[in-house]
Parts: sequence; C-alpha cells; structure tokens
Amino acid sequence: MKVLATRRYPGPALHELADLEIAPLASLDAPRPDVEGLVVANEPPPLQLLPSLRVIANFGVGYDRIDVAACAERGVVVTNTPGVLDAATADLAFALILAARRRVVEGDRIVRSGGWTGSWADSGFAEELTGSTLGIVGFGRIGAAVAGRAQGFELRVLYTQRHEVETELGEYRELDALLAESDLVTVHVPLTPDTDRLIDARRLALLRDGACFVNTARGEIVDEGALVAELVSGRIRAGLDVFVDEPDVPAELLGLPNVVLTPHLGSATRQAREAMTRLVVDNLLAIERGDPPLTPVLSRA
Ligand code: DGY
Repeated sequence: MKVLATRRYPGPALHELADLEIAPLASLDAPRPDVEGLVVANEPPPLQLLPSLRVIANFGVGYDRIDVAACAERGVVVTNTPGVLDAATADLAFALILAARRRVVEGDRIVRSGGWTGSWADSGFAEELTGSTLGIVGFGRIGAAVAGRAQGFELRVLYTQRHEVETELGEYRELDALLAESDLVTVHVPLTPDTDRLIDARRLALLRDGACFVNTARGEIVDEGALVAELVSGRIRAGLDVFVDEPDVPAELLGLPNVVLTPHLGSATRQAREAMTRLVVDNLLAIERGDPPLTPVLSRA
C-alpha cells in the first residue's frame, strides 16, 4: 500500500511502511491515484486528489480539521491516536497551572533582565496552588489524568461534561457553576460543533477575579477575542498551549505578564510522539492486511 505522510513522523515505527513517501499536502497539485494511505497531523486532506485513498491515519487524537463524514461517504477509514498522549497532555496542563498560578515565567524574566535586586522577602506574591479548587472541563481520559495529578496538590476537583460519571476524583457541576466556583479551570474537550466557542464572553465573565484559565485542547473552544480582553484587563491569569490561528498568537498576549504561552506542546514528549507514530503505523498495517483498524474515529454527522 502506497502511503503518503506529510512529514517524517518521529520514532522507528514509520520504517515499517514498505512504500512510504514524505511530502507536505501543499506540494500535491495533481491527482495521485497511487496513494492509498495518508498520514496527517490534523490537516484537511485533499480528497479530490486522492481517488484511491483507503485510510487517513491522523497523528493526534483531535481530528477536527478532517471531514470525517466526507471520508465515510467515500469509504475512507479515518483513525486517530487516543490513549498514548494522555499523560503528556495532563502533565503539560499541570505545568501551565503551576507556571501561571505561581508566576514562574514572570520570575524567570525578572531574573534574566537583571530585575532581581532586593531581598527575597520583598518579592511579590502569587496565590497558593495547594488547597485551591480546580475545575476540569471535559472528563475523558486526559481530564481524568489531570484529576489524578490534582490529588497530589490536595486540590478540590470539580468536573463537567455531558454526563455525570461515578468517580472518586471529583464532583460534577454544570459548566457555568464550575466556572464560577473554581480558582483554576482547565479545558479537555475535543473541538466539535457543540464545543466551538463553548466558553464564550458570558462564561469567561463567570470566572473569579484572579482565576487561572488553562487550555491545552483547542483554541476554538474559547472565544479567543473575549479571552484576550479578560487577560488584557488583568482580571484573570492564563496558561495557553493552543490558539485559533496557530502558529499565530494574538499580538496583545505577547507582552502580558499574566499569561504563559506555549506552542501546542501537549503531546510533545518523545515517548508520546513515538507512541503516536506506532499507533498510526499499526492502523495502516491493519488496513493493508484487511483487518479492522485499531482506533477508528466515527463520523459525527
Ligand atoms: C492532538 O492529539 O490532537 C493534539 O492536539 C496534539 O498534541
């Protein structure tokens, strides 16, 4: 099976594909009837140029830029990489919670710029993390992994999702109540038509003064303009790993001390990324053998 991958995905598993071509999607300007498998990182596939396509193996758990309904109509299987990046993403969410809450990046800048001149006893305060209330929006695998880590910081955990579940890890709240009651809010829902701008200006206004908002899911889940306005006002703090127009970040955020910015690093550990490639390749090999894919995604249409 001829497989086209949009980049050299990390780890050794890619070498198991016998007929592999590496090329960015932008370089496809004519039909490619030879290609039966496509590997993308949540990039919109040019289905019209790939008439023999059998499978799109998405490198990543989120597949919001792939038209799964159109693929299903064409009989193209779509797979993703759930499970293998939960720990990495939960760790990053916690890194952002700690960095934003304890003003770690602000401190780093003060030291580097030579601004640390007085005694430690004169430094500004942050709010304590231990004992505060963490609201988790989306209690799937990654949200639950964040809740597990929260135990170590003695956080009171609230969670919201479509259905209340039985868990020792947190108490269920409706979204609005969770936003109003939390000192820290972290987002872990996939981007779908239902979650697009789920956290709009009205909901952002429910956040407590001084609350810390963390997003490692998708920029579109929040009204980015309203979030920027809240951050510019200084009312809340944030740790943001995802943005609406990546790799562009709203210019207003760049000079703000109350926001920590990272370049979509959620799954960016060697272990997670190599495991993602492994799962991509296992899905492709399954299709090539005529077996069911390991981790297919379902059309939401
Ligand atoms: C995903 O898997 O969807 C992530 O955004 C990649 O880190």
